[in-house]
Amino acid sequence: MKKTNIKLSSLCFFIMMFILQCSKVNGHNHNSINSAKRLMTEYSQSNSPEQIHLSLGSQSHSIVVMWSTKLEEECFIEYGNGPENLKSVTATMAQLTVDNEQASQYLHRAELLDLKPGEQYSYRIINKGSNVKSGIFKFRFPHNENKSHSFLVVADMGTLTKSLQFMVHEALNGLYEVVFHVGDIAYNLNTEGGSIGDHFMRRVSKFTSSIPYMTTPGDHERAHSFYHYRYRFSMPNAPWPMSEDSLWYSLNIGYTHFISINTEYFYLQSAYKQLQIDWLKKDLTEANKLRDSVPWIIVMAHKPLYCTKSEMEQECQEENSYLRDSLEDLFFEHGVDLIISGHKHCYERSWPMYMSRAFQLNYINPLAPIYIVIGAMGYEYMADKQKSSPFWLAFAMSDTEKELFARLNVVNKTHLVWSVHASMTNEDVDDVQVIQTKHGSFGKPGAKALEKMKPRTGGSRNLPPEPFHFVDATNIDYQYRPFILSATVFTISFVLFLFLRHSKVRKVLRL
Ligand SMILES: *[C@@H]1O[C@H](CO)[C@@H](O)[C@H](O)[C@H]1NC(C)=O
Ligand SMILES: *[C@@H]1O[C@H](CO)[C@@H](O)[C@H](O)[C@H]1NC(C)=O
Repeated sequence: MKKTNIKLSSLCFFIMMFILQCSKVNGHNHNSINSAKRLMTEYSQSNSPEQIHLSLGSQSHSIVVMWSTKLEEECFIEYGNGPENLKSVTATMAQLTVDNEQASQYLHRAELLDLKPGEQYSYRIINKGSNVKSGIFKFRFPHNENKSHSFLVVADMGTLTKSLQFMVHEALNGLYEVVFHVGDIAYNLNTEGGSIGDHFMRRVSKFTSSIPYMTTPGDHERAHSFYHYRYRFSMPNAPWPMSEDSLWYSLNIGYTHFISINTEYFYLQSAYKQLQIDWLKKDLTEANKLRDSVPWIIVMAHKPLYCTKSEMEQECQEENSYLRDSLEDLFFEHGVDLIISGHKHCYERSWPMYMSRAFQLNYINPLAPIYIVIGAMGYEYMADKQKSSPFWLAFAMSDTEKELFARLNVVNKTHLVWSVHASMTNEDVDDVQVIQTKHGSFGKPGAKALEKMKPRTGGSRNLPPEPFHFVDATNIDYQYRPFILSATVFTISFVLFLFLRHSKVRKVLRL
């Protein structure tokens, strides 16, 4: 090979590497942009409280406030529902010691007790030593009146969501009592020495400082035995920092008994798996005794029991059967109305179903639980495409570039409305009403239960199926992007190569 050719080849090689490096920014890896933005916007020297977020407390009349500071300093909270009615409470503090190189080091937690349902409260955080004060924030404690409650539900969101501004607007519009985030919170709370976790918590604190933010752990919270999740959040019925054997909880809001479980324990060879199942059985049994006043039971579980097969994985077929084996009978026997999951980055809604079979093709007095996947709040984390349409699937949408969230409106004891919306286009994607007048067990689980759903001629359950909805408007699926990128880079390099070989540029560059 001639010397010129070698020079030419190496020049092209460097150009190619440069282009590849640049193109990475548009691809999967947004970290460098994120880091720069973080440095610019969040640089702060003071020890002011940040990442402020609320959750419902263990007592039925309390709210937990959490925040972070860079330095160790005791803090307290001043709060009240009027200027003449101020109380203060000292916070407890814990230090992050794992994956903490880039993170705010100290976490604080204070529980505001004896709050009145439906009342609005103001609060601010004050550092004891330096007397640094946060701004004043407001929240409304969930009402307990004889009227509807609405909840905002998201999953799989992360720092790359394009819908943050929309979420802030939506969460604070006064409609909702609580925001639920069903796992895969920041991608990940511990990443980059905890700075991704900080970045996420700062961003969402625009609404989590003013409305309870209830979380469920997902696979992306798993690092170091859920360390960052256990420290950064405080969920009901658990001491704080939370321990591994308390990453599940339940609470009643209005007509609904909400349960949040950690589905990761079904995949790890975990001692907590059985502990959690035992707790769940007990909790469901207790909840069923109260169904006259709290009729709905809704479970939040990050990984779904049911989803349709995705392109790359067999998860829906194989892995999730661990969950089905352990949980499906429990949900059926104890009459769980709705199971809400994320994990798959799409939206899917099932008919009332048991053991992979739809029991009916409507939601009027469901005879089995309904399964929902709403894992589509962060499109940049790749969209999952449905590949099959089993009979139990009532609605599916994989065009998650629009970023989807759900409104859960528990209207009264018998009526519930589940609706899904696209935050990017502000359009309504799905809207169904569930009517249940006979809350309670769906029956004894097992093969016998399936006899119920045998087609009956002339029976009222033998309804014609509703039209099957399958929306798939994704233009370029995320997983093809790397190939398109490589092809572009190759073409540009090749053209450059030809150009440099044949033009006068060579002379100018003295190649
Ligand atoms: C609560 O709602 C039910 C059903 O709408 C109604 O029958 C009952 O009178 C209401 N109770 C109160 C205290 O408003
Ligand atoms: C519950 O809400 C539905 C829909 O608004 C209404 O038709 C029904 O009468 C309500 N039921 C009771 C008991 O208030």
